[in-house]
Amino acid sequence: GEVAIGLDIGGTNIKSGIVNENGVVVHRLSLPTKAHEGGEALLIRISEMVKELKKYAIDHGWTVKGVGVGTAGQVDSHLGVVMGATANLPGWAGMELVNRLQALTGLSVTIDNDANAMAYGEAWVGSGRHWHDFICVTLGTGVGGCVIIDRQPYHGRDGFAGEMGHHVIDLGGQPCNCGRTGCWEQYASVTGLMRLVKEEGLGLRELNSPEALFDHAKEGNEQALHVLRRYSQYIAVGLANLIHIFNPEGIVIGGAISKQGDFLLGQVRYELSRYLLPVYGVKSRGIDLVSATLGNDGGVVGAVAGYFI
Ligand code: BGC
Ligand code: NA
Ligand code: ZN
Repeated sequence: GEVAIGLDIGGTNIKSGIVNENGVVVHRLSLPTKAHEGGEALLIRISEMVKELKKYAIDHGWTVKGVGVGTAGQVDSHLGVVMGATANLPGWAGMELVNRLQALTGLSVTIDNDANAMAYGEAWVGSGRHWHDFICVTLGTGVGGCVIIDRQPYHGRDGFAGEMGHHVIDLGGQPCNCGRTGCWEQYASVTGLMRLVKEEGLGLRELNSPEALFDHAKEGNEQALHVLRRYSQYIAVGLANLIHIFNPEGIVIGGAISKQGDFLLGQVRYELSRYLLPVYGVKSRGIDLVSATLGNDGGVVGAVAGYFI
């Protein structure tokens, strides 16, 4: 059959895989990003991953249509260049990713922003498959986003649309990796959650993973529940801003934190109902808030959606 190789480059991990024409990942490969090693090292790393997957596909008799890359940062898909990146990926801005990766792997390459890719995957075979217009938000090391209009990611003039993570929710607030302050990312990301944990009193400060925090909360620990309540408020206030601007059919939440599912989303739904305009309180006018169906695979699947749609 025909397959494509998808990559999802985040601030912490690079996920990659071989995706078939049904949007199913048939083989996976994941490595730490090691972003501090810089742009050139990252390029070599991903090219090695692609070569390994290409070999695997060929050994299985599959035809590789091409490579799709979703990466954190602002991407010009037409030029095939990463135009901007935050401190989460130092040295990545300016990378001529399409040309360089094509030359290194001998395969055709397309690129987009990681959250745009994930959203496209959800539109193709995930939570958004029945919607025309929706919003995706990824809560991970950073906060990414994408507006899907008519089942296509909206890119804007340069390809930089959908940077929800850097919409400011707190004037003069927390310093952000983008060099400014008060960005939503600093409150709604996993990093932001872990900062809330540190700000909380003794008993939680030693927790070093979101999983541990959620475990405590599920056991009824008051401090853990308090942290999650604040975290949900930060997520909800940003989502309310987006809903008021776009009036989408629904919102898909992806990224590392989405695996917590309804334990978190239930709370966010409750907070959202407090931040939304009254018109959304009318029962039939509520906005669906769901987790990404594809979970961790979303970015990898979505990065190659364009080869099959
Ligand atoms: C970046 C986005 C990216 C998001 C998730 C943000 O810090 O600005 O481009 O989509 O993190 O990785
Ligand atoms: Na985006
Ligand atoms: Zn920012």
